[in-house]
Amino acid sequence: MTTISRAAKFAERTARLRASTIREMLKVTQQPDVISFGGGLPASELFPTEAIAEAVRVVMQLRGPAALQYSVTEGIPEMRQWVAQRLSRRVGHTLDAETVTIVNGSQQGLDLIGKIFLDPGDHVVLENPTYLGTIQAFDAYQARYLTVDTDEDGLLPESLERVLDHADPFPKLLYLVPNFQNPTGRTLSARRRESVVRICERFGLPIVEDDPYCELRFEGADLPSLISYQTTAPIIYLGTGSKIMAPGMRVAWLVIPDEEIREKIVLVKQGADLHSGTFAQYVFHQYVSDGAAFDAHVREIAQTYSRRRDVMSEALAEFMPEGVRFTRPAGGMFLWVTVPGVDTSELLRICAASKVVFVPGVSFYPGRDVHDGMRLNFSNASEKNIRIGVERLGHAITAYNR
Ligand SMILES: Cc1ncc(COP(=O)(O)O)c(C=O)c1O
Repeated sequence: MTTISRAAKFAERTARLRASTIREMLKVTQQPDVISFGGGLPASELFPTEAIAEAVRVVMQLRGPAALQYSVTEGIPEMRQWVAQRLSRRVGHTLDAETVTIVNGSQQGLDLIGKIFLDPGDHVVLENPTYLGTIQAFDAYQARYLTVDTDEDGLLPESLERVLDHADPFPKLLYLVPNFQNPTGRTLSARRRESVVRICERFGLPIVEDDPYCELRFEGADLPSLISYQTTAPIIYLGTGSKIMAPGMRVAWLVIPDEEIREKIVLVKQGADLHSGTFAQYVFHQYVSDGAAFDAHVREIAQTYSRRRDVMSEALAEFMPEGVRFTRPAGGMFLWVTVPGVDTSELLRICAASKVVFVPGVSFYPGRDVHDGMRLNFSNASEKNIRIGVERLGHAITAYNR
């Protein structure tokens, strides 16, 4: 192993970067017989491999070298158009393709947002708990966090208002995942969506609406995206192909009506990677251009995950010791379990020995101060393994409590 020389010094922003519990845990996951509820992986058996192979063939035939050439930073026009049309249907008004920037995974979108908004010490308002990848992205810009309380219906507007009333310095951004949140699976209620938008409007606070799971709804009606409200609060919307097609494509999008923000994003993206992969964008676009087949594919994913959610909820009801609580999300890929009095990082050690793993909840709290939660992923294990895994989890909790 080599070490950095004495003269060379890492930038200060690297000091707070946290080793990922998830990465550590993935090492265990690779052992045979381990049932993993840990990663946030979609079901790979549902990837449309044959249709993508056909899309690759068509792209090479129709586009040839153009699909392999450098392209513009904003993304290929066909993809921007497709995103604008699909999101326009969802929000109920027309979004121009100009508002769309194609990014290399929404994770890159979060990094670019951090880059244009955050100076060291700046505040960002987050749900408590929130998506770990956002904490990691914003940590690199030395952000600090203000947290808003949440309940079964997502963040509490009165808590947001209180936080904004007292914030010093005033935050740069509010970040939230309104649909089937990672990690809790909770959805922000319709009434609260409008309140959140109005509060941010009043305070002039930009909103980052991260929405990777909206198309994976199992039941109930879609709720309005925050970007669907007429408001003066700047909204940056993030969507991704990762959960409805394949994460390895790294095709995702930012939708930003505000021109000034959009221009800054394009400038920093140029510096980061010039543009997202031309080839992946063409293949993605070719694949989704058969709208009926694509919609049927998304429905199939949602139906499979819905059954897995059911199996996991039923198994939790059967195998969890008394006092354990869990969410039953109406979509997405995760549910959240609360085990009062148990430090789930400790519990993970016992579980790893019994060959079942999850992500300890503490990772998702910016203050790293709540220890009794765990995130369970239900999209990536078979129904049979979900039952076996939850039974192992139940035994491990009983053993821990003994
Ligand atoms: C809330 C949230 N945002 C962003 C991402 C990153 O997605 P992408 O694959 O588009 O980078 C994820 C992935 O799990 C997520 O759950």
